[in-house]
Amino acid sequence: MTRVLSGIQPTGDLHLGNYLGAVRNWARMQHRTDAFFCVVDLHAVTVPKAPGEMRAVTLRLSQLLMAAGLDPETCTIFVQSHVPEHTECAWLMECTVSFGELSRMTQFKDKSDRHDFISAGLFTYPALQAADILLYDTDEVPVGADQRQHVEITRDIAERFNSRYGETFTVPKAVVPAAGARIMDLQRPTDKMSKSLDSPRGSVGLLDEPGAVNRKIKAAVTDSESEVRYDFEAKPGVSNLLSILGAATDRDPADLAGEYTRYGPLKADAAAAVIELLGPLQARFAELEADPAETSRLLQVGADKARAIAAATLARAKANIGLLEPLAQPFE
Ligand code: TRP
Repeated sequence: MTRVLSGIQPTGDLHLGNYLGAVRNWARMQHRTDAFFCVVDLHAVTVPKAPGEMRAVTLRLSQLLMAAGLDPETCTIFVQSHVPEHTECAWLMECTVSFGELSRMTQFKDKSDRHDFISAGLFTYPALQAADILLYDTDEVPVGADQRQHVEITRDIAERFNSRYGETFTVPKAVVPAAGARIMDLQRPTDKMSKSLDSPRGSVGLLDEPGAVNRKIKAAVTDSESEVRYDFEAKPGVSNLLSILGAATDRDPADLAGEYTRYGPLKADAAAAVIELLGPLQARFAELEADPAETSRLLQVGADKARAIAAATLARAKANIGLLEPLAQPFE
């Protein structure tokens, strides 16, 4: 079976764009692949965090992912820092990637422009991501287009390691969803829906109450015409509403366009479809939230499954480099 792995940073709650653009596909994928999903808390601390903040955010994101359909019985869902092989392998990756290659990463350039304190970890971030991926002999990495470069550098690292030390890692490939799966900001429909845009009215949180969903979608920016047409260039606001309605009801947005002549009914139907989509997810989340010990147990199961594989791959990498083995591993 195809091995699939993706990672998601614990930064705030998920929004509709994360769900429809990524997480829902992951939930579907888990049934036909051997799927691993990693909550990458160590990537999140590349920018300083308040003490204790990570614990709560990591738990909550894990619960949201499970509520959104990532089923710990079907896939492997785990927290990055629970599998220490990731950081150990990251060092080997750092020694396989060059300063020049890391300097050319666009995500580093963007983030280092936005922060005053630029940690060394922010710079070596792609090496940790390469470890996340390569430790599991991953075939496919389902990610947004913004992560293509990170998967490319992971491939380069894997190939370089294999040619230096012999066949060790599987060379993965990125799987990027079609552009139509992108959900845009409701207030600025030419930007991707995102929490960091400081646009709370532009993004629908997965845990938003029905009233809030209704209000935000009804207030979505459209245009001064009155024609319903699926054309992101000319009509980004209307097209985004069609995308949302289409994704929520599993229908083709261009087909849907033919069924509307006015914006009001389109907005009403899109809001109703999103509310119906989020209802069951919010109910499952409430159950998980009420029982954090159960979430911790499920994450432990995931970490144990992940660790068995990661430890074997890391041992192979160290053996192929030719590091002297200790007589016994400490604490075994
Ligand atoms: N860098 C990714 C992001 O910002 C998160 C990530 C970390 C990731 N490790 C990964 C994604 C491994 C895919 C595979 O979205």
